[in-house]
Amino acid sequence: MEKHASMTRLLHPHVAPQAGGAPLVTPIHQTSTYELPRTDEAARIAAAVAPTGYYTRYGSPNAREAEAMLADLDGAEAALLVGSGMAAVSAALLSTVAADPGEILAQKSHYTGTLTLLQEMLPAFGRQVRLVPQEELAAAAGRQTRVVYVETPSNPTMTLTDLRAVRAAAPDAIIIADNTFATPYNTRPLDFGVDLVVQSATKYLNGHSDVTAGVVTGSAALIAKAWETARVLGPVCHPFEAWLLARGLKTFPLRMARHNANGLAVARFLAGHPAVRAVHHPGLPSHPQHDLAVRQMRGHGGMLAFTVADADAAVRVLRATKLCRNAVSLGGPETLITHPASLVFAHQSAEELAASGVDATMLRLSVGLEEPEDIVADLAAALSTVD
Ligand SMILES: Cc1ncc(COP(=O)(O)O)c(C=O)c1O
Repeated sequence: MEKHASMTRLLHPHVAPQAGGAPLVTPIHQTSTYELPRTDEAARIAAAVAPTGYYTRYGSPNAREAEAMLADLDGAEAALLVGSGMAAVSAALLSTVAADPGEILAQKSHYTGTLTLLQEMLPAFGRQVRLVPQEELAAAAGRQTRVVYVETPSNPTMTLTDLRAVRAAAPDAIIIADNTFATPYNTRPLDFGVDLVVQSATKYLNGHSDVTAGVVTGSAALIAKAWETARVLGPVCHPFEAWLLARGLKTFPLRMARHNANGLAVARFLAGHPAVRAVHHPGLPSHPQHDLAVRQMRGHGGMLAFTVADADAAVRVLRATKLCRNAVSLGGPETLITHPASLVFAHQSAEELAASGVDATMLRLSVGLEEPEDIVADLAAALSTVD
């Protein structure tokens, strides 16, 4: 009998109240559920939008902490943290298109997961989606447009969307902007009239290549709808990931300043290299939308794409770098190089690839936080193999 009681006690450990001061850093609330008060308060918590201390799929103290930081960075009323950037894109889009049969207008150039959602999944649910060349988005918007989905700069072509022009062209539509590449350090889309911002927090926001997460920011009313969608679809950002994200966010402005400086230094080096055909970086005056980049972005980030003579040369450069690591993803401390045509667009057809402005001569760089001279030296050595 005593053995039985001790085994039961294993499941109900006595947790002593904490002596001394409160922890400086929020502890990780690694629990899936919460003991509720034995009063009517329990039902009130259960019925609330995004309650804290109810059930971890509905939110956690760690997610709430990161959400408060992220809403503040974006100048938003509210934020919703979810388990990946694609979960943020899906929650934002599905929550806004659910009630309205009107047109969804988007770009031909988007992150590939977003393209699949727009081109295959939403039409399969009977939604009308029109994709237009990115620079023509504002001109294509009209009264029939209910939702406009933009990504600026877009992955991987670094093409920009003029947010103010889109707002003016579609005054009644809900505009959703993927701000993963720019980040709120460089552009705050809500300041330009956008309604909802989505970001892969996997990238610059966390900044350490060790978390997968996503965030939606906007008005409290739109975030409540996005939360309801995410509550049903279930893409949770777990407490440890949310804790890591809140930790990473503390150095976000310092990292972004360095990414901006390093990105420009590497772009300038590549633009002057004889083996490089074109460099796509909004900070270069040669970028066709440089004026817009200056108006809409405080700095131009660490992302860039460049092209070399042919597909074979691109693969040779990719394989010759040593410091720049061959990996997808972006926004981490280490410089990553990738070949979008064969890796990032692996799930897309050749036509979709071409429509996105990607070809096999293109390489994408996520310029990291290393000494810029070291990144340049590594690229110079790799480019000498095709010079
Ligand atoms: C612009 C953009 N949006 C969304 C995503 C999706 O983010 P995640 O991989 O965190 O789902 C990515 C991923 O690379 C991206 O580049």
